Amino acid sequence: MAVQAGCICTMVVVALVCCCLLSAGATEATAGGFSRKHIAAGKRLRRINKPAVKSIDSPDGDMIDCVHITHQPAFDHPFLKNHTVQLRPGFHPEDLYNDSKLSADPGKKKVSTITQLWHQNGRCPDGTIPIRRTRGEDVLRSSSVKRYGRKKHRTIPKPRFADPDLINESGHQHAIAYVEGDKYYGAKAIINVWEPKIQQTNEFSLSQIWILGGSFGEDLNSIEAGWQVSPDLYGDNNTRLFTYWTSDAYQATGCYNLLCSGFIQINSDIAMGASISPISEFSGSQYDISILIWKDPKEGNWWMQFGSDLVLGYWPSFLFSYLADSASMIEWGGEVVDSQPDGEHTATEMGSGHFPEEGFGKASYFRNIQIVDESNNLRSPKGVGSFTEQSNCYDVQSGSNGDWGSYFYYGGPGRNSNC
Ligand SMILES: *[C@@H]1O[C@H](CO)[C@@H](O)[C@H](O)[C@H]1NC(C)=O
Ligand SMILES: *[C@@H]1O[C@H](CO)[C@@H](O)[C@H](O)[C@H]1NC(C)=O
Ligand SMILES: *[C@@H]1O[C@H](CO)[C@@H](O)[C@H](O)[C@H]1NC(C)=O
Ligand SMILES: *[C@@H]1O[C@H](CO)[C@@H](O)[C@H](O)[C@H]1NC(C)=O
Repeated sequence: MAVQAGCICTMVVVALVCCCLLSAGATEATAGGFSRKHIAAGKRLRRINKPAVKSIDSPDGDMIDCVHITHQPAFDHPFLKNHTVQLRPGFHPEDLYNDSKLSADPGKKKVSTITQLWHQNGRCPDGTIPIRRTRGEDVLRSSSVKRYGRKKHRTIPKPRFADPDLINESGHQHAIAYVEGDKYYGAKAIINVWEPKIQQTNEFSLSQIWILGGSFGEDLNSIEAGWQVSPDLYGDNNTRLFTYWTSDAYQATGCYNLLCSGFIQINSDIAMGASISPISEFSGSQYDISILIWKDPKEGNWWMQFGSDLVLGYWPSFLFSYLADSASMIEWGGEVVDSQPDGEHTATEMGSGHFPEEGFGKASYFRNIQIVDESNNLRSPKGVGSFTEQSNCYDVQSGSNGDWGSYFYYGGPGRNSNC
């Protein structure tokens, strides 16, 4: 019965998408009806969206499809045809479930953890995973149907080679903390959550962890997770949980969330790309999320955990070259796209939109940043560097103390009289 319901559901989705494409396509349509882009978008949608056992309307306008775990996009990958889903990690780094002593932090710095908006209207049954449904307009907003769900090239901050060319080429700006020069088997952070303002829809603002393998060449490997506001990708200004991976520096492999085959999700509570809520308020309540990514030394897969106990799933080892062994650099922090609207620096905000020196409740932070070392233990990183292209636009200030471990404040307003 469940499967049948799923099929009906999918057909309805396809029908709705066609209507949508029709109306949206009025100006772009060729004499024959749909434009090439619309036809390609329809095909792409049918590949991405999977039959749902149940669908949940989210208050933000998203539809969350509960998809049987074995029907998720990962299993379209030829290498995963015979894959047996691992329902739990073979290994947890030491002190994995021990956020409580840090995050409780009784007293003035009160912070709360958060969930996802769609939970207000239901939950996915066991054996399914929640997937944010991709709509026709999502794909059509992308500059190309083929690149929908992918980052543009060269968006990784390269502290050592920070030169004007890099800033110029991509228009991406960062304020990050990082470690390099060792072998890393994972990373963790508790990340303050805000909703930065985006000046133009082709820009974004995000706060994330980067797990990087290889030098910054054409074969760079990267696993990324955090929160982002990206009007182009999602069609609104909501703050959303996201992941990303690539094994060739954003060229042909990888994508956001579950928008291609790769990540295998096992968790039925958290949807990649779904809105997180509530959001921190300036001089008001503060909210944060905890993200841990680590490598299972036995199977070689990279696992991800959200919060203190939600294991979301894993990236199979075979997706990567360098990361099949270990990471060579970890970065934590913010990134925005500056598209130089009106020939000036963008006013798109990073973090809370306020500079680090304003401190708790005003500036955004990463706290308890940790790495997984060669003994597979979580520990505070040594020799943390920090980097920003233009500190008058977005800045970063790191420190460490007993309550917060290794931490930093980061972000800024972008355009201002000094930027
Ligand atoms: C999957 O299993 C079938 C049957 O055992 C086999 O023929 C096929 O080669 C396998 N595919 C992969 C990708 O391992
Ligand atoms: C968490 O940390 C506390 C204090 O350091 C310790 O007593 C407790 O055993 C730890 N819990 C786990 C599950 O490791
Ligand atoms: C960007 O590139 C242009 C032309 O290549 C150059 O004139 C300009 O100085 C560069 N801007 C920065 C910030 O490096
Ligand atoms: C997103 O924010 C921009 C600028 O702040 C605003 O112009 C736009 O209408 C917003 N979009 C939505 C869907 O709310």
